[in-house]
Amino acid sequence: MDFLYFSLLVLSLIVFLPFSSSTYQKLSGGSSLSVENPGDVLISPNSTFSAGFYPVGNYAYAFAIWFSKPSCLVLQHCTVVWMANRDHPVNGQRSKLLLLRTGNLILTDAGQFNVWATDTSSLPSVQLQLNEYGNLVLSNSEGITLWQSFDSPTDTLLPLQPLTRHTTLVSARRNGNYSTGFYKFFFDDDNVLRLLFDGPEISSVYWPNVWLLSSQAGRSAYNSRRNAMIDSFGNFTSSDDLSFLSADYGANWIQRRLTIDYDGNLRLYSREEGKQTWVVSWQAISQPCRAHGLCGENSLCRYGPSTGRKCSCVQGYKTKNQTDWSYGCEPEFDVSLNARHEYTFVHLRNAEFYGYDYEVFYNKTLKECETECLQRVGCKGFQYKFNGNGVYEGFPKALLRNGHQPPNFDGDVYIKLPKSYVSLKKEELSKETISLGCRQNYTINLERSYVEGQENGVVKFMLWFACALGGIEIVSIFLVWLLLSRAQQEENVAKEGYLLAATGFKRMTFDELKNATKNFSQEIGRGGAGIVYKGVLSDGRVVAVKRLNEANQGEAEFLAEVNTIGKLNHMNLIEMWGFCAEKKHRLLVYEYMEHGSLAEMLDSHQLDWEKRYDIALGCAKGLAYLHEECLEWILHCDVKPQNILLDSGYRPKVSDFGLSVLLDRSKLSNRSFPKIRGTRGYMAPEWVFNRPITSKVDVYSYGIVMLEMVSGKNPRKGIELIEGGKGEMDLITWVKEKKEGAESKETWVEEIIDRTLEGNYDKKKMEILVAVALDCVQEDRDARPTMTQVVERLLRPTH
Ligand SMILES: *[C@@H]1O[C@H](CO)[C@@H](O)[C@H](O)[C@H]1NC(C)=O
Ligand SMILES: *[C@@H]1O[C@H](CO)[C@@H](O)[C@H](O)[C@H]1NC(C)=O
Ligand SMILES: *[C@@H]1O[C@H](CO)[C@@H](O)[C@H](O)[C@H]1NC(C)=O
Ligand SMILES: *[C@@H]1O[C@H](CO)[C@@H](O)[C@H](O)[C@H]1NC(C)=O
Ligand SMILES: *[C@@H]1O[C@H](CO)[C@@H](O)[C@H](O)[C@H]1NC(C)=O
Ligand SMILES: *[C@@H]1O[C@H](CO)[C@@H](O)[C@H](O)[C@H]1NC(C)=O
Repeated sequence: MDFLYFSLLVLSLIVFLPFSSSTYQKLSGGSSLSVENPGDVLISPNSTFSAGFYPVGNYAYAFAIWFSKPSCLVLQHCTVVWMANRDHPVNGQRSKLLLLRTGNLILTDAGQFNVWATDTSSLPSVQLQLNEYGNLVLSNSEGITLWQSFDSPTDTLLPLQPLTRHTTLVSARRNGNYSTGFYKFFFDDDNVLRLLFDGPEISSVYWPNVWLLSSQAGRSAYNSRRNAMIDSFGNFTSSDDLSFLSADYGANWIQRRLTIDYDGNLRLYSREEGKQTWVVSWQAISQPCRAHGLCGENSLCRYGPSTGRKCSCVQGYKTKNQTDWSYGCEPEFDVSLNARHEYTFVHLRNAEFYGYDYEVFYNKTLKECETECLQRVGCKGFQYKFNGNGVYEGFPKALLRNGHQPPNFDGDVYIKLPKSYVSLKKEELSKETISLGCRQNYTINLERSYVEGQENGVVKFMLWFACALGGIEIVSIFLVWLLLSRAQQEENVAKEGYLLAATGFKRMTFDELKNATKNFSQEIGRGGAGIVYKGVLSDGRVVAVKRLNEANQGEAEFLAEVNTIGKLNHMNLIEMWGFCAEKKHRLLVYEYMEHGSLAEMLDSHQLDWEKRYDIALGCAKGLAYLHEECLEWILHCDVKPQNILLDSGYRPKVSDFGLSVLLDRSKLSNRSFPKIRGTRGYMAPEWVFNRPITSKVDVYSYGIVMLEMVSGKNPRKGIELIEGGKGEMDLITWVKEKKEGAESKETWVEEIIDRTLEGNYDKKKMEILVAVALDCVQEDRDARPTMTQVVERLLRPTH
């Protein structure tokens, strides 16, 4: 008897061990899905979606819905769209999803606790099905929906899933951690869709811009209902008038999801049929540090394309918790000081701290703002900026929160610190930085006690037997997994491509660009690398299309370069809107610049001194961003007037990154380049003498361009010596001689200034410009200022 029982069990084990193929189309009352059986998965009719137990840590699982088409090979790589128990993962043993005959759907942990339930009931019969749209629906025999996952989203909204007054998207905690995070996308009390940072201590709305009225942000607060949805073509519409189209609008076979990511940005992702990688086809905010709460109190968020996002403490403050930046920074100085004469201010360039102003100092000088701030014990410092109406404003801060340094922000911050501290420490930002968003390990160990089951010999044997079989299976699964993860690693390289779209530009087809430029008919420029044509995109944007000479560059290399340039985001750098890499065609699509290049403008004498000064400042800002936003990561290597373009307001944008060098910080010691880059007349001596190349080569070229702008003389041609002599002299020597040989300090600038200005200029400013330019063109690269220092020197007189 015992033997028969035993053999039957063995038999059934052998039959049921190869679980993997037993997926379900639907679950009916009285049945269950078990965490221990990887095959216990509910799939949608065309298997686009699956629902089952998804690993969120060691021995920790959540019941989830994920995209299962195309197959994601390893479960951890599948894209999850919904979770039942994101904050209460269940154990990897004996946990089950049970559909009771009474109609209640429950999730049990280790066979003991109910961690989640729909609390529905219906007699006589119920069924659970996952439909092709990714909606898990519990319905009764009459087809009435009792519960559906679309009504309780986590961080993702799928096409045709409505967002209503009862639903909110809440981000995950961090990359790889699916627990409830701090960012929310929801209909606010005034019926407007907003993004909210809802942190442990405070909360604040950061999108749409809070200083705008809803109507200014294009939203309407007066609705009859709250409803938003994205359709299957990629058209998002909302009752508050927010609407946008996916960049790939129109195709309904593309998979899409609108997700609020753990970094606080709301992104629409798209995935073409059969592709593994998701592409961002729309996003709510384009500046990575704009979301609130990324770094805690007293810290600054910075973003660089190569380093990602980083937090760093404001001067005078130190990190509270190295492992979690949301704790922010705490004072490093003695906070018990009270007397106003004990404090001074430290200047923080181009920084912004949002909110927590206790008043506004309207039309006050820097000195007056300082005095006011010193008088208030609670004043941590103040934001000081020009408000555009001819008046400076100060915003005294009770707290330093939401700090960041936007690339095109013109305000400064003055931090109040004790004099004793400042004299002790050098004025530099604390170097502590931790990269946010680095991948966390997938590990949590759940501590749940188990009730030891009653064992008998047979079961024990069976268990051993199963373990042995399981062991074999695990070994083979492990081998397969090894192979697959190799493949996955290779694929990750390709995934970089998705970053492309993150900055809002896209890949275009050759035909599209051929149409836009009317078959490349209107040439507007020509350079070593290719010809530039004017064109108009189908959406009406005017563009400059650069058609590179037929490829001696492979597609991967080209894409890598495009990727770098596409991530640049600064008002003084040319913006790339798209690109095309098709067969042998390589094209780049830029915004069209009304006034062409600085070279043309100088030739036609259309620039007065104010424009020249602003151009000098703008270029310096653009280059400073390239060099220092992320600690010297891009060298332009070809700064010259032909590569500085001017928009309709004569705002300069540095362009042509064809020769630029992306510095890999890990290879910084090996600063050798295969060939000389640049244009004669603008090239730093390092190139010629084969010395190490640093960002100072751009500083040198920039200095030459400034001398050219001031003097109107072309550095590529020698300057004829009129006063008694033959031969030529280069621009730098000429300017230096004029300076040193001048009879009085007042006259030398007059002698070198472009005659076409006819004496209309601000002498002080021009002197500064020339002085800075001469510093920039010093032989010794270490003696040249950095681009940031140049910006500071040019900004100073405007105060
Ligand atoms: C499932 O796939 C078939 C064949 O590709 C298609 O005709 C059908 O419309 C799909 N069903 C759904 C619900 O998308
Ligand atoms: C996710 O973050 C939460 C909150 O910090 C933490 O309690 C939980 O253990 C984390 N989960 C994982 C898988 O790391
Ligand atoms: C998007 O959907 C809205 C509402 O249905 C509609 O009014 C609008 O025309 C659609 N946009 C496009 C481009 O189809
Ligand atoms: C730092 O943060 C981690 C994660 O939130 C926490 O476990 C740890 O206790 C914190 N350490 C201190 C010193 O606060
Ligand atoms: C700003 O203050 C100065 C000096 O107090 C005053 O002359 C000027 O008119 C003020 N400007 C405005 C716009 O209030
Ligand atoms: C997380 O990963 C790091 C580096 O891979 C490793 O040193 C560490 O032990 C891991 N932590 C846990 C809890 O597994």
